[in-house]
Amino acid sequence: MVQQTKSKYKKAAFGPNEVSVIFVLGGPGAGKGTQCEKLVNEYGFVHLSAGDLLREEQSRPNSQYGKLIADCIKAGDIVPQEVTIGLLKNAMKESVAKGKTRFLIDGFPRKMDQALKFEEDVAVSKFTLFFECPEEVMLKRLLKRGETSGRTDDNIESIRKRFVTFIETSMPVVDYFETQDRVVVVDCKQDPDVVYDNVKDALHARGIHLKQ
Ligand code: C5P
Ligand code: MG
Repeated sequence: MVQQTKSKYKKAAFGPNEVSVIFVLGGPGAGKGTQCEKLVNEYGFVHLSAGDLLREEQSRPNSQYGKLIADCIKAGDIVPQEVTIGLLKNAMKESVAKGKTRFLIDGFPRKMDQALKFEEDVAVSKFTLFFECPEEVMLKRLLKRGETSGRTDDNIESIRKRFVTFIETSMPVVDYFETQDRVVVVDCKQDPDVVYDNVKDALHARGIHLKQ
């Protein structure tokens, strides 16, 4: 059994003593990015947003994935895992080279294949911070954000699709980690400062403390 676990993870790029990874999941508009920014300031995490990395890659001149990413994002679909994992792995390598090894990986894994492949090839996560939020609250936040974000998916049609993808494709990932007791749930419907207190309590309960 031990042997099996060892061989399964032996090709991961980063071992558990090299990096510490926390996944941050929650529906679109749950406030993942907002909370991650707060955590970066106080805890010294490196914040990697899978969505931000994809948007950056999409607008990189001559990217072979530009159109694929643009189409998936607008349709609220999940981009093929190898693209997103490649971007995350590169970003992690750059940070590790600078001695920054504590990661918050936001908006990832959004699909079972991403979860399995990342933990096999890149690193095993400590746990997943799951931001729980009613759909009507998320909808309100996204429509508000859409007034200024310039995002192609902050419109009612894309938002509806993103909600469906979240329930059908991303929630199974949360359920999977839950079976391994690797999910920490945070209530996210209140204002960002109140939510942040909940997040900090949740981290402290899991032994994560302020900047090292
Ligand atoms: O997290 P964010 O809302 O920025 O993600 C925007 C879009 O990027 C998602 O709706 C999806 O199309 C794509 N994405 C993905 N896989 C991820 C994260 C984001 O395909 N892990
Ligand atoms: Mg975000």
